Amino acid sequence: MPKFKTLFFLLLAAGVLALTGCERKIVNETAPPQDGLAASACFTCHGDQDLSLVAAQQQWQNSKHGSGENINRNRNNSSRYQACERCHTSEGFIAQVSGIPADGEHFTSISCFTCHQPHTNGNMELRAADPVTLANGVIFDYGDGNLCANCHQSRANVDTYVVDDVELSERWGPHHSDQSDILAGTGGYEYAGYQYFSSAHTGVLEDGCIDCHMGGSQANLVGGHTWNMRSESEEDELQLLSGCNVDGCHGSRGPVTDLNRTANSDYDGDGTVEGVQDEIAGLKHELVTLLFAAELMEGDEEDGYYPAEDRMVSDADSAGAVYNYMMIAEERSGGIHNTQYAVGLLQSAINYISTGDPNGVAPRERTPLLSMH
Ligand code: HEC
Ligand code: HEC
Ligand code: HEC
Ligand code: HEC
Ligand code: HEC
Repeated sequence: MPKFKTLFFLLLAAGVLALTGCERKIVNETAPPQDGLAASACFTCHGDQDLSLVAAQQQWQNSKHGSGENINRNRNNSSRYQACERCHTSEGFIAQVSGIPADGEHFTSISCFTCHQPHTNGNMELRAADPVTLANGVIFDYGDGNLCANCHQSRANVDTYVVDDVELSERWGPHHSDQSDILAGTGGYEYAGYQYFSSAHTGVLEDGCIDCHMGGSQANLVGGHTWNMRSESEEDELQLLSGCNVDGCHGSRGPVTDLNRTANSDYDGDGTVEGVQDEIAGLKHELVTLLFAAELMEGDEEDGYYPAEDRMVSDADSAGAVYNYMMIAEERSGGIHNTQYAVGLLQSAINYISTGDPNGVAPRERTPLLSMH
């Protein structure tokens, strides 16, 4: 095993350095741990008894961070991708949070050393956990979950992006990563005169994303360092419910038995109260049907819907309906991240497109959707 060889030589080197009293330490000089990283300290993490690193490794291998299809979005692949590497690669992310540009020689997937710097600090502390300012200026502050928000945030500022006479394209929208915005109850297109609410998740979670996605683990397929809430294997469907059913959350109020938990109300108005994810899917379907008819969106059920290419939309309120559809399509929890906010964004958009009034109570003449150009 080459890895063990490396470990052996590093240990040897650390030992020699310790013996000769050489000042040079293996650690980064700008952030020295208490007493340097002595050879014996290696075993506080790399032991034979405590296998938490091995467990994390095995989970990470089953994660999209470790094995996703989009870990090649960097400048070595295409110069267009230089803007992507800060979220899609380890080197890009480290450059982003440290302020030291990446050398661009090679890029690797999001791995242990992206989020931790054990050999610099001598501990497993997170590389970045400060509150994160989202694209629209709202501050995301959920403890260790702030780490995730550095990457899992909208790439567009809704306030300046969704404007009159905006031109749509297939890629128009917040990007596939707006989970932090939705959890914090912000970042959607909010119609004037409509009141938006957030669900309990926005207010009660100390560590945000981590409380659910790393709230326990099972079979190295869900939770922990897989970050999966649901296992992908068809024959063996696992759901991670341990994060939901803790004291103070659903644990003390009747446990959640399915991620698609029964909704509080028939949000999509189809006559039955279904699971939250089904209610949200119903609302999304209603909205996309309207937007499709208005020629603002294209695509199909199977491959997904996207904004129509080269369409100039007359006013921000109309473009906002497309934006809200994309916000909820991209947060990808089926409304679990923040059910009330998701319902509000979709319902106000449906109302606006169908009646001209986001509340749907005072139908009025709506501006024509497409600009005349
Ligand atoms: C605070 C915990 C911690 C300490 C202390 C620590 N390591 Fe590590 N080390 C890690 C983690 C986490 C990884 C990545 C996961 C893995 O490969 O097991 C790692 C990986 C490694 C690797 C594999 C490198 C790679 O790229 O995968 C080597 C070699 C290594 N450590 C050597 C050492 C040596 C030598 C010391 C002592 C000078 C040491 N480590 C101290 C946490 C630690
Ligand atoms: C360095 C940026 C970065 C950080 C930090 C980060 N992620 Fe990710 N995450 C990504 C990218 C990029 C992908 C998609 C990878 C791919 O598809 O190749 C992803 C994928 C995921 C997925 C899988 C989505 C799917 O398609 O199944 C989950 C879940 C996830 N991240 C949750 C988290 C959580 C929770 C945290 C915080 C502990 C976090 N991420 C931190 C960038 C990041
Ligand atoms: C602000 C951070 C950020 C930037 C910048 C960014 N991405 Fe992403 N991207 C993410 C995250 C996080 C995910 C994973 C979200 C998920 O799976 O829901 C993702 C997912 C994706 C996906 C997978 C979508 C899917 O349906 O599985 C593609 C493709 C992608 N990004 C392409 C790009 C490209 C190309 C760029 C540069 C032009 C880019 N990204 C820039 C954060 C970012
Ligand atoms: C996307 C960011 C991310 C990556 C990549 C990552 N970690 Fe972590 N890790 C975290 C977060 C966040 C926590 C804190 C979890 C909590 O608060 O419960 C953590 C905690 C840990 C812990 C402490 C206790 C535990 O077992 O939960 C260990 C050990 C650990 N990680 C090892 C690793 C190793 C080994 C790798 C690489 C295989 C790795 N991590 C990759 C984010 C990451
Ligand atoms: C209240 C619990 C909870 C919180 C908090 C939470 N998530 Fe989720 N997340 C879920 C659930 C449930 C799903 C849907 C899983 C399913 O049904 O497949 C999901 C889905 C996702 C997905 C799509 C993954 C996939 O496999 O399709 C990503 C990416 C994601 N969450 C990232 C995040 C990030 C980043 C944060 C923090 C900003 C976060 N989540 C906060 C529960 C949560």
